[in-house]
Amino acid sequence: MADFDDSDLPEPSLKNIIDQESLQWVFVGGKGGVGKTTTSCCLGAQLAKYRKKVLIVSTDPAHNLSDAFCQKIGREPTPINGFDNLSAMEIDANDDMEKMQESMVESSGSEDDSGINALMAELTSSIPGIDEAMSFSELMKQVQSLDYDVVVFDTAPTGHTLRLLSFPTILEKALGKLMELKDRFGGLIGQASAMFGGGNPGQMQDMMLGRLEETRSIINKVNDAFQDPELTTFVCVCIPEFLSIFETERLVQELSKFGIDSHNIVVNQVLFPEKDAEELGEWLAENTASLPKEAQEICAKMMARKKMQDKYIGQCFDLYGDDFNVTLMPLLDYEVRGVDKLKQFSENLIDPIDLEG
Ligand SMILES: Nc1ncnc2c1ncn2[C@@H]1O[C@H](COP(=O)(O)OP(=O)(O)O)[C@@H](O)[C@H]1O
Ligand SMILES: [Mg+2]
Repeated sequence: MADFDDSDLPEPSLKNIIDQESLQWVFVGGKGGVGKTTTSCCLGAQLAKYRKKVLIVSTDPAHNLSDAFCQKIGREPTPINGFDNLSAMEIDANDDMEKMQESMVESSGSEDDSGINALMAELTSSIPGIDEAMSFSELMKQVQSLDYDVVVFDTAPTGHTLRLLSFPTILEKALGKLMELKDRFGGLIGQASAMFGGGNPGQMQDMMLGRLEETRSIINKVNDAFQDPELTTFVCVCIPEFLSIFETERLVQELSKFGIDSHNIVVNQVLFPEKDAEELGEWLAENTASLPKEAQEICAKMMARKKMQDKYIGQCFDLYGDDFNVTLMPLLDYEVRGVDKLKQFSENLIDPIDLEG
């Protein structure tokens, strides 16, 4: 490494995100259990040092922001203890849909909700994802009105993540379906609602149409913003194992296909990131010979793991090192839970680990 000039290579840290003040939307994604939530919380904590108002949003149905912060995080932005400018929220598409239905029934002035419920049920069963799309657009409307400087999204595992980008297509389909329903069953839902004391026939469909059109316009604007590298970037989190590196490559390719900027990879749970496997192995071989057999076995197991990790970290730098900021995060001896531990761990995202050790 010594005779190789690496001064032009991207820095091995997430400092570039802190420095890029234009960023409004930062996505954090990767396989389950690799450390997305931990990374989102740590990045949020670091951003909070330099931005006026920061929000972390979990869109992963398996929410664990509450576990990470050791604090109940609600459906609305919840201020995080130990910060005066960091909030977090967990969103739930089912909950949001129910609220939306209620608000539509309320604003129709009708006491009966059978019409709108039938319409909603028809739409959600024939257009998968419409509930998520509508709930996401509500979230974006809310978040945009609260003027956060930057929002960090703790996303669902890969596969799910890029669903966001298919929302425009889903909305087009939903609008088409609604038109079709209106033509075919126009009177029916109206009649049903009239029969149960509901308001004006057709009013529900029109209201729904209005909602969907509003949703479409928000989603289209949001997608443009997500495809603007000045505003949006995607941080890929992985661990140094075959499947995770493989998945990361798929994610990186998919992001590039959809025109979403990504130039950061966090490799989490790295054993002794500052040490070289070969040197460490030699040192251990020399210095553990007199230890009891069990102790030697424990060291050998650790070394085997370390060697495997180094192989995948090497592959990661070969694949991405020229274009991506590749940040190594150490495997700790304890879970990264609670504000103090998160704050402390988050320093590793910014201060590159000295690989020359
Ligand atoms: N570098 C690390 N060292 C030790 N424990 C970690 C590390 N990163 C994450 N963890 C722990 O691993 C578990 C899973 O991490 P989490 O961030 O929730 O993953 P994800 O959101 O990708 O499912 C959590 O209990 C977390 O505290
Ligand atoms: Mg998580």
